[in-house]
Amino acid sequence: MNISVYGLGRVGLVTAVCFARKGYTVFGFDQNVQLIEQIRRHEAPFHEPHLADYINETVRNRRLHLNEENSESEFIFITVGTPSTSDGGIDLSQVKRAAAKIELAPSTVKRIIVVKSTVIPGTARMLADTIFNKVPNNGAKVCSNPEFLREGNAIQDTEFPDRIIIGGDDHAAMQKLEGLYKDFCGQRIPPVVQTTFENAEMIKYASNAFLATKISFINCLAGIASKTQNADIKSIANGIGLDPRIGDKFLNAGLGWGGSCFPKDLDALLAYSKKVRYDALILKATRDTNKRQWKTAVTYAKAALGSFKNKKISVLGLAFKPDTDDMREAVSIRIINQLVKMEANVAVFDPAAMNTARKIWGKKVTYAKDPQECVKGSYCCILATEWDEFRILEPHFFLTQMAKPILVDGRRVYDPKRYRNAGIKFFAIGLGPVQDDGK
Ligand code: UGA
Repeated sequence: MNISVYGLGRVGLVTAVCFARKGYTVFGFDQNVQLIEQIRRHEAPFHEPHLADYINETVRNRRLHLNEENSESEFIFITVGTPSTSDGGIDLSQVKRAAAKIELAPSTVKRIIVVKSTVIPGTARMLADTIFNKVPNNGAKVCSNPEFLREGNAIQDTEFPDRIIIGGDDHAAMQKLEGLYKDFCGQRIPPVVQTTFENAEMIKYASNAFLATKISFINCLAGIASKTQNADIKSIANGIGLDPRIGDKFLNAGLGWGGSCFPKDLDALLAYSKKVRYDALILKATRDTNKRQWKTAVTYAKAALGSFKNKKISVLGLAFKPDTDDMREAVSIRIINQLVKMEANVAVFDPAAMNTARKIWGKKVTYAKDPQECVKGSYCCILATEWDEFRILEPHFFLTQMAKPILVDGRRVYDPKRYRNAGIKFFAIGLGPVQDDGK
């Protein structure tokens, strides 16, 4: 069976290679010629575990075709970007352009247009009404099919999704799309929800808004815990997470959420709420809590050091989360900008995001080749992203490398007792003052 994918970004490319690897013939399109060339050379255009292997295999065995016209694709996925507009809404121009292009492309089969890009309620119906139903007897049907993959886990999430949401108003088309997923997932088909276009589109925003709210909630509690003697948000999160109605996922307090999805989707949902005249108070609080969360790192560092002027401060982790090189809306950006503004000599290290970082700061910071070079001689170290290779850094490492062993654990990866007992001046999100904290 032939499948087309329009837009080979983080969602589209992963979707394309996963279908291709399962034996479908996939036609991937992107207007970015450089990106296409990179994939043709079997290179992954961004850091994502296993992606390079999947590209290599599917381009070599000609399951994945790049920018080659095909008139026999029964399913056409739209996976282009939906960037933010200045008022926080979303820019649909790429989606509309892709739809118009698809509509004009020659076809010998009845096509199902699958909108995977994250779009506000009403978008897929609008595309169906204004583009695909326009031409009499065109025969193309539209389904909404939001994507829930996480960066850094994209291949696994695509191959083993935990639910499949299909929105639409054509029963036969929705059944066909469900059939495609049944075939793709085999025995491991998760629950499938068939619903309206608008519900499907809203489920995507609601999922991300809920997760962002869960994190902002625990970060809010972390703020209270940090002002409470002998309190620790880790223990509190553990205690509440055991209640199955709450659950233990996405309760890691830290410096806040970033990335290309939560910030953009929350803004888009808020802009949409405004448009439909509903004052979404919880969403505003979720966003505002996150907007200031990064400051905690600087506050702790300042409390311990006083002035940053001409002092080396090391920052471990730049990507918005581990296992990606993506720095969009990463909290590290705000923290480092502030440190630079306060005249610190900032040294940074990230296992994957160094090239991205160089484009952001140029000569304003120094780029270390490993954690040791980063931390060496620094007066304070801030852990901003919880890569596995930072988790294993022992108290001894900080004590022997740093000018002053002051550590701000922005992601709660280290055991406070152990690091404090070893002689490190240790700060962490959501950790209250201890009675015998003499260090
Ligand atoms: C998120 C959703 O989890 C996906 O389901 C969704 O498909 C995706 O957005 C999207 O809309 O495309 P992603 O942005 O890749 O995925 O990353 P997450 O793992 O959700 O993490 C988002 C942010 O929350 C990161 O900055 C992470 O550090 C932070 N986070 C996560 C916390 O601060 N605490 C937690 O407990 C969990």
